[in-house]
Amino acid sequence: MRKNIVAGNWKMNTTLQEGIALAEEVNEALAGRKANCDVVICVPFTHLASIAAKINQEKLGLGAENCADHEKGAYTGEVSAPMVASTGATYVILGHSERRQYYGETAETLRAKVALALENKLTPIFCIGEVLEERENNKHFDVVKAQIEEGLFNLSAEDFGKIILAYEPVWAIGTGKTATADQAEEIHAFIRKTVAEKYGQEVADNTSILYGGSCKPSNAKELFAKPDVDGGLIGGAALKCADFMGIVDAF
Ligand code: PGA
Repeated sequence: MRKNIVAGNWKMNTTLQEGIALAEEVNEALAGRKANCDVVICVPFTHLASIAAKINQEKLGLGAENCADHEKGAYTGEVSAPMVASTGATYVILGHSERRQYYGETAETLRAKVALALENKLTPIFCIGEVLEERENNKHFDVVKAQIEEGLFNLSAEDFGKIILAYEPVWAIGTGKTATADQAEEIHAFIRKTVAEKYGQEVADNTSILYGGSCKPSNAKELFAKPDVDGGLIGGAALKCADFMGIVDAF
């Protein structure tokens, strides 16, 4: 059956020294706990190798927040999937709404990134979600379905089985405005049905679908209690160990 997962997305926060200290704090907090979910932190590229050397990845997974859509070559400033893998990281967030919005990521670039991530044995945490206007016009189901179809449905069932999905309504990210647990469940169930129609019920039942968008200790329990919400992708609240652990403890 599918895993419950709490993954932190640090975004462009923390210097290397601050990041190492935070990762060590989270690592320490997990060492003294029996978490009822997998726990992952996705951190800036610059921090990966140093943090990999400091944490116990059996209890705390490590990932990048992006990778390039090419394997290597003349792409100044980019960081490839093999480079990420060579640091010891095993996850990568792909298609975050901030990357789609500010860096022009398209379904085509995302398909290339997903393929390279999988080739390099990185587990993609693939983000989907609608903007406020789309929700207000009741387009969120269509938008999310198209993002999944265009970004992922070229994969074999075996490869799709390696993907973690993260539903993040853009209007809830960093705004303090969370989707209600019922809103989250409604669309998570729809996402699972969409996956089932393509790959069958077993693959759909084994797919972890995380919720992201102002998830915090005070609302995590209610969200995670829903049958199709398998955990969270956590931005702001992942930057404080106590808050992050409060969310982990919601399981
Ligand atoms: P937030 O971010 O928890 O700060 O809303 C979530 C995300 O963007 O992954």
